[in-house]
Amino acid sequence: MIHLSVHPDPEATAAAAADLIADRIAAAQSARGIAHVSLAGGTTPRRAYELLAARLADREHVDWWFGDERCVPPDDPESNYRLVSESLIAGGIPAERVHRVHGEDAPEHAAVAYASELEREVPRNADGMPVLDVALLGLGEDGHTASLFPRDPSLDVTDALAVPVVAVKPPPNRITLTLPALRAARDVIVLATGAGKRDAVTRVLAGPDPATPASLLADANVTLVVDAAAAP
Ligand code: 6PG
Repeated sequence: MIHLSVHPDPEATAAAAADLIADRIAAAQSARGIAHVSLAGGTTPRRAYELLAARLADREHVDWWFGDERCVPPDDPESNYRLVSESLIAGGIPAERVHRVHGEDAPEHAAVAYASELEREVPRNADGMPVLDVALLGLGEDGHTASLFPRDPSLDVTDALAVPVVAVKPPPNRITLTLPALRAARDVIVLATGAGKRDAVTRVLAGPDPATPASLLADANVTLVVDAAAAP
């Protein structure tokens, strides 16, 4: 089920996303003592991360994961870990609670290692699938999310939590969580701003289609948080 949440501008959209994530984290902490949250990369979430740190009453009992990472070292400008360290960690989140993907390692090895860390650390449901409390995702103009790109074989993976992919969006080599791992999340929050994302937002709402990978999350509990420019 996809719920659409529209806000006037990028700043209000970032604030709404930060509020929603903080709310879900507080709920997870009171229910289970700790929250597990996967984070999006790209450019759109930076402001939400800057706002999120200040909104957390309990910063100790949250483990932070990544929906995807580029195969670069953690200090590289293209690194999603670097984005998080410059925004969320800089805002006061303990770095030791952030589980980064080792983008500097061989992609296959980094994917397998990250999947095992998820399996070890994140509580699982009856099917043995680790259940993130929140999976925050971005949305590409082509409808990709995390590093799950249109019509890519990674969309059909059902036996792994994380896989290496070669993407059309630079940098090409990436590690991504798979659809089963993202679908298992209690809350999937997709954040998109700007007129360039309107077509993709419209296609996500139109129903599941491998040409629009984000739409394949429709059977999960999804909130699409967008600004007026990106709204259908
Ligand atoms: C990545 C992301 C990717 C991103 C979208 C949107 O590592 O590139 O996880 O899925 O969220 O490409 O990117 P922008 O926010 O920069 O438009």
